[in-house]
Amino acid sequence: MKAIVTGGAGFIGSNLTRFLLEKGYDVTVIDNLSTGNEGNLPEGIEFLNYDITDSGIVNILAEQNADFVFHLAAQIDVRKSLEDPIYDLTVNSVGTLNILNGLKKAGKGKIIFTSTGGAMYGECDEPADENRKENPESPYGISKLSSENYIRVYSKWFRIPYVIMRLSNVYGPFQSTKGEAGVVAIFVDQILKKQKSKIYGFGKMERDYIYVKDVAKAAFYLSLKADNETVNISTSKKTSNLELYKMLCDKIGREYDYELEDIRKGEIMRSVMDNRKLLSKIENFKLSDIVDGLRMTVEWYGNREEE
Ligand SMILES: NC(=O)c1ccc[n+]([C@@H]2O[C@H](COP(=O)([O-])OP(=O)(O)OC[C@H]3O[C@@H](n4cnc5c(N)ncnc54)[C@H](O)[C@@H]3O)[C@@H](O)[C@H]2O)c1
Repeated sequence: MKAIVTGGAGFIGSNLTRFLLEKGYDVTVIDNLSTGNEGNLPEGIEFLNYDITDSGIVNILAEQNADFVFHLAAQIDVRKSLEDPIYDLTVNSVGTLNILNGLKKAGKGKIIFTSTGGAMYGECDEPADENRKENPESPYGISKLSSENYIRVYSKWFRIPYVIMRLSNVYGPFQSTKGEAGVVAIFVDQILKKQKSKIYGFGKMERDYIYVKDVAKAAFYLSLKADNETVNISTSKKTSNLELYKMLCDKIGREYDYELEDIRKGEIMRSVMDNRKLLSKIENFKLSDIVDGLRMTVEWYGNREEE
């Protein structure tokens, strides 16, 4: 099978690329390295340094003639989307339209799109399922929702099959410590460097944390088992940011050193997503427990630190 991974030099994309290689796929990564890193890429793939907002991508996709396009390339920072919504819209929605036009021109290929649960459902105390009314509260949520809708419309009129994956908060190896989205990566980096951590929402913000290798596995199996569907990729469980911080300090073996701060603009207090549809689609899908996921993540950063 031939697969394209846009955003494959990023955090989730590089984990997915490895998973697809293990499954024997022929993989091409398309990434402009704006937040990704070529060093994240494994050997044995084709890498195209290209910007998905450039309409030349349409011909590239048509030439590639892939069976699957895992479309992950995006502007992912909610606060940046508030500062520069036009950039956010261009990368996320125009970029997605270019990918869809490429698939249309190729006349072949299924799109697997990484959308967001947190920015789509808004505040939720109880796990939100896929039927919950969308309520984006940031330009990022709006551009992801519009991309989802373009995908549905292209599927209807141009018969492009799709899977929309609404991800909860992903953590694990290869997450950049510089990004704004990865609280696990930021905490691990600060704890290892013995720096004080700021914990927003006075430590009471709750998220549904999912291990990145489970996301890669879900993307692979859903690409084969789901047709024209929207599926939450989540654990249905929530953990507060203070609990998370303490678990990481305990794993690393460091004293707690933090200060509590108010919530920041554009963020929500609570986000948790129902995963029953995911579990019904993939038989015997066992999600990693957060304790194991955090242990594997800490080990990965620890080893990287020593390099
Ligand atoms: N990390 C999470 O918790 C999370 C949660 C929900 C949804 N998502 C979605 O998952 C996807 C991957 O996120 P991630 O956390 O791996 O982020 P990331 O920033 O590590 O990866 C995004 C990749 O896209 C590339 N990219 C950005 N703009 C591009 C452009 N114009 N042309 C080509 N490449 C471009 C970047 O260089 C980077 O490698 C995104 O679509 C994001 O919205 C992530």
